[in-house]
Amino acid sequence: MIIKAANAEDIAPGGMKPVTINGREIVLCNYAGTFYAVERACGHAGARLERGALTGWILTCPLHYAQFDVRSGVALSGPVPKAPESAHADPADPALKTRALITWPVRTEGGQIYLDLP
Ligand code: FES
Repeated sequence: MIIKAANAEDIAPGGMKPVTINGREIVLCNYAGTFYAVERACGHAGARLERGALTGWILTCPLHYAQFDVRSGVALSGPVPKAPESAHADPADPALKTRALITWPVRTEGGQIYLDLP
């Protein structure tokens, strides 16, 4: 189902905007004029990702700094442990893992952003 999500002019390059559509919480991301849609809740502990930073296509969570590729949702790095735990952090520790983000196809047309939601 194709649904209008936002006006493209409302999201500057490097910007993000949360939207709720059919009960789904989504963040629209503008990477160099191309829009991407990822789930709003971080794959680690659910932080609101639009409060993080979008640097190129890398979205960094505001809470523990896990990083995601907004083009695919892939987790690029897990949460950063707090010091002094970081000195002895075990990379296999489940607390330091995150899952990938759900993404949805995005289309822009006539200055509008549309999502293809199942
Ligand atoms: S909630 Fe995002 S890294 Fe922990």
